[in-house]
Amino acid sequence: MTTEAEAANRLMRLAKEIAKHNRLYHTLDTPEISDGDYDALVRENNALEAAFPHLVRDNSPNKAVGAAPAGHLSKVTHAKPMLSLDNAFADEDVADFVARVRRFLNLPEDEPVVLTAEPKIDGLSCSLRYENGVLVQAATRGDGQVGEDVTANVRTVGDIPVTLSPSRLREGLGVGMSAGGRGEIPAVFEIRGEIYMAKADFEALNAAQEAKGEKLFANPRNAAAGSLRQKDASITAARPLRFLAHGWGEVSALPGETQFDVIKAIESWGLPVDPRFIRTASVEETLAHYRMIEALRADLPFDIDGVVYKVDRLDWQARLGFVAKAPRWAIAHKFPAERAETTLEAIDIQVGRTGKLTPVGRLKPVTVGGVVVSNVTLHNRDEIARLGVSVGDRVVVQRAGDVIPQIVENLSRDEARAPFAFPDHCPECGSEAQAEEGEVDVRCTGGLVCPAQRVERLKHFVSRAALDIEGLGEKTIQEFFDLGWLHSPADIFRLKARRAEILARDGWQEKSVDNLLAAIEGKRTPDAARLLFALGIRHVGAVTARDLLKGFVTMPRLCDVATSETGADELIAIDGIGPAVVEALADFFHEPHNVAVWDDLLSEVSPPDYIVETRASSVSGKTIVFTGSLETMSRDEAKAQAEALGAKAAGSVSAKTDLVVAGPGASSKLKKAAELGIAVIDEAAWAEIVKAAG
Ligand code: IVH
Repeated sequence: MTTEAEAANRLMRLAKEIAKHNRLYHTLDTPEISDGDYDALVRENNALEAAFPHLVRDNSPNKAVGAAPAGHLSKVTHAKPMLSLDNAFADEDVADFVARVRRFLNLPEDEPVVLTAEPKIDGLSCSLRYENGVLVQAATRGDGQVGEDVTANVRTVGDIPVTLSPSRLREGLGVGMSAGGRGEIPAVFEIRGEIYMAKADFEALNAAQEAKGEKLFANPRNAAAGSLRQKDASITAARPLRFLAHGWGEVSALPGETQFDVIKAIESWGLPVDPRFIRTASVEETLAHYRMIEALRADLPFDIDGVVYKVDRLDWQARLGFVAKAPRWAIAHKFPAERAETTLEAIDIQVGRTGKLTPVGRLKPVTVGGVVVSNVTLHNRDEIARLGVSVGDRVVVQRAGDVIPQIVENLSRDEARAPFAFPDHCPECGSEAQAEEGEVDVRCTGGLVCPAQRVERLKHFVSRAALDIEGLGEKTIQEFFDLGWLHSPADIFRLKARRAEILARDGWQEKSVDNLLAAIEGKRTPDAARLLFALGIRHVGAVTARDLLKGFVTMPRLCDVATSETGADELIAIDGIGPAVVEALADFFHEPHNVAVWDDLLSEVSPPDYIVETRASSVSGKTIVFTGSLETMSRDEAKAQAEALGAKAAGSVSAKTDLVVAGPGASSKLKKAAELGIAVIDEAAWAEIVKAAG
């Protein structure tokens, strides 16, 4: 656990650090850290902000850009926000939507509410800004207010013309231009729509990724997003991205008075519009179109997750306006989660890094909404009991959007058959498997004797948040482990002796082997906190690892304390460290095998002392008390500033206090300071000190 003061301190540093790297990357084009390290900073920031929402300040990396994704692409503030949609699930919800529109506009009974209806494409929305018919900027949705600049990437998408073509305006369209002449393209026109990847292209891309040993995408939408949000647009160019227009943002003039006519005009300028985009005049007609699209769904070349209805008349749209982030004039009629029946053929048990036994259901392969599902997670022993499943049962599998497929119903639960016996021994090493009191998870007690735990720990050791060894992915770790080359982390640093053997294996060339070995060599002086986290000690996450090292500076000192008689007290005294961590550390370092692994590792790597960087200042080493109400910052922020300047922030004035920073309303502490002859300054003077330290 991190204390509030520590979180405030860390958040302030992170904000500065992220801002610095943004500048280095975007403005100066001289990044100093890898994308992985940058992402880790952003992740750490976001986790702390989530845990301490009241500490989120205006200089938060997220605030500065809205809550937009803090990636490496630059930010774009949308001229008009990119909205989301309310959802309807049942037919009645659609009837209610139309009734609401009718009521809001106070329409007479016999006035039809004409809607447009079109598929809801499962992609990512994108805003394309055309000025005088030329594509000048493309941005992702981001948080709706601020997105990411993907102009260079979008220019490589074949469906998206770089210039709009007025000549394509179809004759007889019946569209009156509300400004400019017929067929003229408005000076400013932002076309909005969905970037997506066709199902077949997604399959082919994943097959190619697999052949190259690269990361697979979970679904077409992730593949489209990953392909679009590339710093290097040539990667985007090589990916088969498509586009369908469904709306617009800022425009200097509109080529029509209805949703339908404007979209048709956009189509005539050269952008694709889904052929199932139609106008409907009654709820019945609308629902019939929904059912038609639902029936087509599995055969469509791309994923859709519903049908979107929009009020056709733009003057009505304007009157209806928005509620929160969604328009009152549109709604997404979602398809129900897809389900299918199949047989549970086996229940396998996987053993993870911490020894957790996870049951995985193997299914007779079944197509659920166009995707073949053959595995489902059964989570834990309790979930198996809840479903009452055993091998051979008929089950209902559900797949909803992005969610991992799951068993939602057991059709055989009332039949007589032997219940599934959850193992009481580890299937990998035979050690006993138990659940700790009050816990649902059953764990293998074999520790590093267990090959499954050993290999999972190695994977964790090299992972991004840990040592982050590039080129050493899970597959390679598994392969080298199976070959007997890797037993413990230190072996990674001895791989250089196997250069020729690695080279002799499939898929390795001189260059890739040298890159791998260089990446490993580059981690011989790893950050001590990352190294501690990499050991995979239970309850010691990345933040706890840092807290521990802040307290003990070196790893050997930490090990001494963890195993000493009085160690527990010393550890507990550190802010953010609780009994679970103390116990886990003692368990870990009392185990001779772990100590041997650790000593072996230290013969290969030397983590530098962990010194929390503070800026030299006139208050370094001093004890400061903040009192009264501060006007430009919170007490937490002030304390964090003091800590960043190497000072200690204390809660009460005593003989040890060097300085008191007082805002209005301070009384007793001021009096005490006067009695003790301690210097008192105001908030403005404090701000000067902070500024002077740079
Ligand atoms: S209209 C003001 N139409 O769904 C309404 N959105 O859940 C803005 N989407 O962010 C959206 N297909 O990315 C609209 N035919 C369609 C759509 C569609 C997919 C996405 C869009 C939006 C999200 C809202």
